[in-house]
Amino acid sequence: MIGKLINLKIHGDDRGSLIALENSKSFPFEIKRVFYIFGTQEGISRGNHSHYKTKQFLISISGSCKVTLDDGINKKTFNLDKPNLGLLQDPYIWGTMHDFSEDCVLMVLADDLYKEDDYIRDYDKFLEVIKND
Ligand code: TYD
Repeated sequence: MIGKLINLKIHGDDRGSLIALENSKSFPFEIKRVFYIFGTQEGISRGNHSHYKTKQFLISISGSCKVTLDDGINKKTFNLDKPNLGLLQDPYIWGTMHDFSEDCVLMVLADDLYKEDDYIRDYDKFLEVIKND
């Protein structure tokens, strides 16, 4: 599947809003790592890789950005423009984040620790790997 958008529950009252994410049946995986991307310069794209095993869940908690996911055959672009909208990126899906607004803070939750050997950073290698998968 090329990405799945998930609407997150907002706990809102007259003070404002809160979203909580925790390991549970309603979250698609066990969270092991969180990182966030901010201060992205105009015209820059990030990501440009796939993973062998790691699942990721991306939320633009401030501002907006676009994420293009690619399974080697089809591509789909998602507009992450709300802090209550998450995008699930499975392994063997090439992902590129782009069109960051100046105030974008893109938070990414992952189901594994950072391991460089879980990355496929070359697109031709990605196509080769998925062909043989
Ligand atoms: P990089 O993989 O280039 O980020 P992106 O693909 O999202 O543009 O990562 C930038 C640097 O941060 C690189 O030196 C690796 C490091 N890094 C970590 O140490 N831990 C992490 O969880 C991530 C995602 C990156």
